[in-house]
Amino acid sequence: MSIKQRDELSFDELDELVRPAPEVVEFEQVANSMVSRRGFLGGGAAVGASAFVMGSTTLATSSALAAGHKHSRLAFEMVKANALDTITVPKGYKWDVLVSWGDPLFSNAPALDTSTGGTGASQELAFGDHNDGMALFSHNGRQILCVNNEYTNRKTLHINRTDGVPTTADDIRKSKAAHGVSIVEVAQRNGKWGIVQDSSYNRRITVDTDMDITGPARGHDLLKTKADPKGVTSKGTWNNCGNGQTPWGTYLTCEENFNGYFSSSDEGFELTSEMKRYGISHKDWGYKWAMADSRFDVSQEPNEPNRAGYIVEIDPLNPTARPKKRTALGRFKHENAELTIAANGHVVVYLGDDERGEFLYRFVSKHKYLAGGNNLDLLEEGTLYVAKFHDDNRGEWLPLTPKTTGMTEAEISIHTRVAASKVGATTMDRPEWVASNPNKVEVYCSLTNNKNRGVKPNAGGDETPASGPNPRVKNNFGQIVRWTPMNEDHTSTEFKWNLFVLAGNPAVYDDANAGSSNITQDNMFNSPDGIKFDSKGLLWIQTDGNYSNQKGFEGQGNNQMLVADPETGEIRRFLVGPKECEITGAAWNPERTTMFISVQHPGEKGNSHWPEGGQSVPRSSVIAISREDGAVIG
Ligand code: FEO
Ligand code: CA
Ligand code: CA
Ligand code: CA
Repeated sequence: MSIKQRDELSFDELDELVRPAPEVVEFEQVANSMVSRRGFLGGGAAVGASAFVMGSTTLATSSALAAGHKHSRLAFEMVKANALDTITVPKGYKWDVLVSWGDPLFSNAPALDTSTGGTGASQELAFGDHNDGMALFSHNGRQILCVNNEYTNRKTLHINRTDGVPTTADDIRKSKAAHGVSIVEVAQRNGKWGIVQDSSYNRRITVDTDMDITGPARGHDLLKTKADPKGVTSKGTWNNCGNGQTPWGTYLTCEENFNGYFSSSDEGFELTSEMKRYGISHKDWGYKWAMADSRFDVSQEPNEPNRAGYIVEIDPLNPTARPKKRTALGRFKHENAELTIAANGHVVVYLGDDERGEFLYRFVSKHKYLAGGNNLDLLEEGTLYVAKFHDDNRGEWLPLTPKTTGMTEAEISIHTRVAASKVGATTMDRPEWVASNPNKVEVYCSLTNNKNRGVKPNAGGDETPASGPNPRVKNNFGQIVRWTPMNEDHTSTEFKWNLFVLAGNPAVYDDANAGSSNITQDNMFNSPDGIKFDSKGLLWIQTDGNYSNQKGFEGQGNNQMLVADPETGEIRRFLVGPKECEITGAAWNPERTTMFISVQHPGEKGNSHWPEGGQSVPRSSVIAISREDGAVIG
């Protein structure tokens, strides 16, 4: 397949190209599990197969929603869906670009040359591409923003090459520098936010940054390479998707589709079953890093992929501190890391593995958080659990231990998917971000979509029946599940769950694809992805889905951001992004008068000129949103 063709495929489609294609399985419940919309809303009338119990508590709605939001907490006028090449925010709000791909973080670096996409040297001193998850750290009155740079648009990054195909070693240097994390001080001047060039906090963390490997996998044979014969240090981080933030002041960056950068120069190189489970193949997804760096050639360095797919902890206030890969939190396609402190003091981190039919995880630290104490290594030791959902709205966290899996702690940390399959975890519709409600012991996870639900197993061969929190066969729209841990204890192994929203299109469908009762023709969307609570307890929902505005998606327009009230179930659209972007990542200034979000890959198929307009090259950017009257947002 040519680069051009591969460019048009999503990450998941690329994974399917390379992984061992399982037989298509016809689950018996395929036909039966499609419940009617009426079945969803009937309040107790379970319709369809026994596997699909949609009782009154499964899909949560409340009397306040039914009463038409007389006392809505969402204090803005809903934005209409649109397909414009700009940002649309509610009346009374405004937005500005804070920083874009290629903006120099230091005054000795050149401005981005959009006719070439810059060079390796310029990119190493500049804001990375495809910004995603982020967090803001306030320190002595200064604001330091950490932003993930997930991946790149090769046709704009390598605009100097035919079809965006990287050709020289410097192209690879530029590509590696466009990935990772950008740490940059930001400040407001004359009412407008901008970056502080040359701040001592400004730092780029890239694919070539030295970091330490910590936790159970440290020093394991599976992590040893020629460059690191002890298996204790690694170079760099890439495909950093969602994020987390700790109360002890560190940033967590989450390695997602790390597999797409590896290739094999030896066509006969035999891939292990574990490599296949993680999507490692003989071909990369077009990045061509192995051309200039042999560690991305799996026939030369078969253990290098085992050193990626982790949560990485970074101290943003100490620019010389080495980032730490936290293997105790497992290795998979990490979306974000939602950290909370349980009532008993243990640190609990909720983690999604974003691939069709993969799992939802929870880490519980061995040691307790002590306010003001030394908490810096709390993510080094603990127990990983994986979620099992039952159809009766109960759920449990299954521990992944040597006893339950027959694997060592190191093996569980490295081949976490294999361990989770062994204990019979629930295959999910691509777990994206997890968000913990600041007002109560309650957690939400967006399940973005899964066209394979009820159609074929996951990459490990685990079946994907339509049931529980993944109720729709060939799920194109996605949903958000939420759960309450038993006894209001985040470390409890039991929980109760329900669906907060099933996205859908009630203008086109009158079956389950219409979505839940809190979805209307006015607020509809598909593919919830980023979710984050603000300090007030409102849930911000960002989408990364189908923006064709056609067929089943007609009327949904570009990707967007909505706000939900978890108490009433009410959802209002707050923002619509430019063409072919996704909206992701969120942070607020301490006063919550500004919200920062990522506008990622505008014009990923070549049809946007955002943010500069005219015939300009589109650039992923962080934007700052505020109210025209300067009041608190939301
Ligand atoms: Fe990078 Fe699952 O989104
Ligand atoms: Ca995402
Ligand atoms: Ca995306
Ligand atoms: Ca996504």
